[in-house]
Amino acid sequence: MCGIVGYLGQKEALPIIVDGLKYLEYRGYDSAGVAVLHNGRISVVKAVGKINDLEQELKKVRLPGSLGIGHTRWATHGRPSLGNSHPHATADGRIVLVHNGIIENYNVLKMQLQAEGCVFQSETDTEVLAQLIGKYYTDDLAGAVLSALRDVTGTYAIAVLAKDRPEQLVVAKKASPLCLGLGKNEVFVGSDAIAFIKHTNKVVYLKDGEVATLTPQTLDIRDMQGKKVSGKVHKLALDHSSIEKGEYPHYMLKEIYEQPRAVQDTLDGRISPQGDEVIFTELEKYSEYLIGINKIVIAACGTSWHAGLIAEYLLEKHARVPVEVDYAAEFRYRYPVLDARTLVVTISQSGETADTIAAIGEAQALGAKVLSIVNVPSSTIARNSDMVIYTYAGREIGVASTKAFTTQLAVLCLLTVYLGRLRCSMTEDYARNMLQNLKCVPNEISKIFKEVENIQKIARAFHKHSNALYLGRGVGFPIALEGALKLKEISYIHAEGYPAAEMKHGPIALIDENMPTVVLAFKGRRYEKILGNIMEVKARKGQLIAIASESNEDIARVADAVIRIPDATESISAILAVLPLQLLAYYVAVEKGCPVDQPRNLAKSVTVE
Ligand code: G6P
Repeated sequence: MCGIVGYLGQKEALPIIVDGLKYLEYRGYDSAGVAVLHNGRISVVKAVGKINDLEQELKKVRLPGSLGIGHTRWATHGRPSLGNSHPHATADGRIVLVHNGIIENYNVLKMQLQAEGCVFQSETDTEVLAQLIGKYYTDDLAGAVLSALRDVTGTYAIAVLAKDRPEQLVVAKKASPLCLGLGKNEVFVGSDAIAFIKHTNKVVYLKDGEVATLTPQTLDIRDMQGKKVSGKVHKLALDHSSIEKGEYPHYMLKEIYEQPRAVQDTLDGRISPQGDEVIFTELEKYSEYLIGINKIVIAACGTSWHAGLIAEYLLEKHARVPVEVDYAAEFRYRYPVLDARTLVVTISQSGETADTIAAIGEAQALGAKVLSIVNVPSSTIARNSDMVIYTYAGREIGVASTKAFTTQLAVLCLLTVYLGRLRCSMTEDYARNMLQNLKCVPNEISKIFKEVENIQKIARAFHKHSNALYLGRGVGFPIALEGALKLKEISYIHAEGYPAAEMKHGPIALIDENMPTVVLAFKGRRYEKILGNIMEVKARKGQLIAIASESNEDIARVADAVIRIPDATESISAILAVLPLQLLAYYVAVEKGCPVDQPRNLAKSVTVE
């Protein structure tokens, strides 16, 4: 949450910074600001709202200069206001910085600084850091940053300017992501390389506890003791065109339509030519360990947690391994019972979710090995895990996760077969069958897009409601949770996902003609039971929208609207059934005129606990 950028080179800094901020807007969009140094003066411009609002402010001024920093904010300490927007500066304007993270002891530090005569302009924790650096700064900016950070507890990625250092940009990191882009006589800073990938693909990921001094030609990295360390240069393959919206009105819609390709890329090369084995070369060195595990604990957040819930059904049913699923934040603080025979699986699109990162540390401290399913290469979660399986969804920019989820499910199906075969709990025929079904998924997803007009029609009626219920059984239950989450996130309609049978223990009291119910009614051993639940909703005048397999003819007699998915096994139906729910949430949000890619209060990457 919060995105920071920086530039130092030969070009005008401002356009590069503003452009970088646009790519980081997924990290927060409560307010934004820039600072540019020119002729011994640092000019700061801020705006409440999105980068567009900042651009309007920037039209009123001219900010020349080839050294600058920028910030897009997701508010933690202090409401979104001009005063609380970054960059923050010392009272004399000598030091200006942007920050992503939380300074946990800011109150104590603030009181100390106030006692020493500092006057504060904002309610933020960040301003404390600016003042602290100002206190230590004489002529060594990196040294002052180091001294200040030694006083601080909490998390940070910062970029700092001093008005008498026109050739220097100092950055530091602990727990919040930060990377540096190295160009020819220019250097870039970003919370994410997406901010500068247009300009260079040579990237250095700063490690926790490192402070770097950048000039257009040099990079000097120090640890917290001030000892010089070297930074590894990675060459990123990120294709710039993959981060544009193209012909789509929103990233979310583009990403929904990318799912056949994303799932295909995730499966490619991972199924043996005979079709009966999964190839995970990344796990080979751990095969003995994986044979010996006696429990899997899955920890994740948000949509990735829903993928984990589906994995529980898949792994227990097909690979016969006991599985527990936890929210990463709960796992971390609930004294989990783990040992060297527990495999902890974390799932994350961004690879930067703070609670999931913390869960990995906790698991490893307790002796477990961690296997992570991650979409972003070289992310913190990928780097900290013992084993990593990448999903190849490609960049996901829409805040509401779509293609990351279906690719996570594809990997989890593969992992089920992999572990089932490795641990001899799955026969060759069974594996071949599962993999054959999985191979059909990209094509089957494509068929669902012919339902779009039907879904748009349903959305036109649906968007007028303020509550909705999503029901499913078995693997349909986590899909119901995911459908409800999508609707909440982007259309602000309150929605609850529930196991269909459990509805009778509470939510049924809410059902009337004003509360639409979406039911996952695909074929499987629970289908007859789901029909029973549908009748219970209908008996209470509930409006019923069913997501049903093509061959379920009887459903049309009871549901008010039906969205069809291709016939498939229960596990595969779960992957297919999320597509109509993503599209339904999307079109409901469009009907309501909501900002689909940037829903209020949310951020794509949650880097604070
Ligand atoms: C945020 C995003 C969600 C995502 C969740 C977990 O809430 O808005 O889309 O599912 O974080 O993120 P991760 O990157 O760890 O999957």
